[in-house]
Amino acid sequence: MSRTCLAVILAAGDSTRMKSSMSKVLHPVAGLPMIAHVMKAVAASGIGDVALVVGRDAEKVSAAASIDGLSVGSFVQTERLGTGHAVLTAREAIARGYDDILVAYGDAPLITPGPLMAARQALADGNDIAVIGFHTERPTGYGRLLVENGELVAIREEKDASEAERAITWCNSGLMAISGAKALDLLARIGNANAKGEYYLTDLVEIVRSLGGRAVAVDAPEAELAGCNNRAELAVIEKLWQERRRHEVMLSGVSMIAPETVFLAHDTVLHQDVLIEPNVVFGPGVVVESGAVIHAFSHLEGAHVASGATVGPFARLRPGANLGEGAKVGNFCEVKKAEIGPGAKINHLTYIGDAFIGAETNIGAGTITCNYDGVNKHETHIGAHAFIGSNSALVAPVTIGDGALVASGSVITEDVPAHALALGRARQEVKPERAKAIRERNLAIKAMKKSGS
Ligand code: UD1
Ligand code: CA
Repeated sequence: MSRTCLAVILAAGDSTRMKSSMSKVLHPVAGLPMIAHVMKAVAASGIGDVALVVGRDAEKVSAAASIDGLSVGSFVQTERLGTGHAVLTAREAIARGYDDILVAYGDAPLITPGPLMAARQALADGNDIAVIGFHTERPTGYGRLLVENGELVAIREEKDASEAERAITWCNSGLMAISGAKALDLLARIGNANAKGEYYLTDLVEIVRSLGGRAVAVDAPEAELAGCNNRAELAVIEKLWQERRRHEVMLSGVSMIAPETVFLAHDTVLHQDVLIEPNVVFGPGVVVESGAVIHAFSHLEGAHVASGATVGPFARLRPGANLGEGAKVGNFCEVKKAEIGPGAKINHLTYIGDAFIGAETNIGAGTITCNYDGVNKHETHIGAHAFIGSNSALVAPVTIGDGALVASGSVITEDVPAHALALGRARQEVKPERAKAIRERNLAIKAMKKSGS
């Protein structure tokens, strides 16, 4: 589209129903603040200029909204007098002169480029105002779209609506495109004579019509437009986001056995032919390459899993976990800030942190890298083709060479050269026949107690 556009994003609203110590738009969906989701959609639709209207937590909201590819100017709305007033707070930016002014809300994070472009297209088609509406089974709280003969005649807020109007299920998403040439004049005409005593942006519809202009409503899916006023709605939005993303991920070639139990982060990258078993949670910053399997009940965050690697069941990969091709991290293992070489195996009940593990090395059950001395973190370096016996404690900093063998139950405090055997445990003693004597003595004690009682 060759028309110029300013996106005005409203994020100064009332957070009281969130009952939160932070601004509503900072609440995360899929691990990313709502406001950043909106900004990503704006950027993806090809809009570069944004006027962000902020109130509470202004600095944090501006920071969360500053994403690559957007030029964002912030405007502080000190008094929260309504959506119409909020848009006018960005007067200076609007006055720069754009073909389209696109208003979107920071608390509707499911938005995609589709409806943004549809609203602008409606302006290009000769309308002065285009409102994106959605049909819903839960219209409560939304403004209702009043349409006659294909024209939008008014938007009625819930509090001002008659019973008949409340029965309407076509709702205002809040997303609105306004003719840039007319915007400032129209906005200046909004009054506050309504049930809430606010300057309603939605009044623009009746205003533009009274001046002989034309308004239209364009339909879009609810799953892209739902707004958030409280934490129950936040959970609904999270659910809708997760459903949409899982669907996309599966269509891109990822298998999920029980997708409804898998939780993705906003930036989770899963390559083709990855298999995700039930009840897996992805925190931010995870990449899983083709053919890897994430078994049930695993939790991954800030981790990279190379192709053919397997994780879990019940594994935890924390930030900096980097699994090489075909590596295995099995049940009840935790890996943090560690390179796990190709084909290395960490199969059971193990903690590996601040470590490097070479290719094809085997880490026995119950191995712990003791990386923390109570003050500082230290590194453990294990070469390739090494074998760490079960239940060993590797006290960092420590280096274990290629092909070395650590005997089971060892506490390793000194470096182990390549191909050496290290034993760090009490030497075993065997006393022939001693077990019998002990058993006989114990039986005698038991008999004595019985006769005495
Ligand atoms: C608004 C719409 C309603 C629509 C609904 C969709 C109006 C009058 N009503 O109602 O038709 O169905 O959104 O979710 O526009 N904001 C400010 N400053 C303000 C007031 C609001 O920045 O002074 C921002 C809020 O941060 C929020 C957005 O505008 O992002 C919507 O405000 P909110 O108070 O939630 O409006 P609703 O009553 O939900
Ligand atoms: Ca709202």
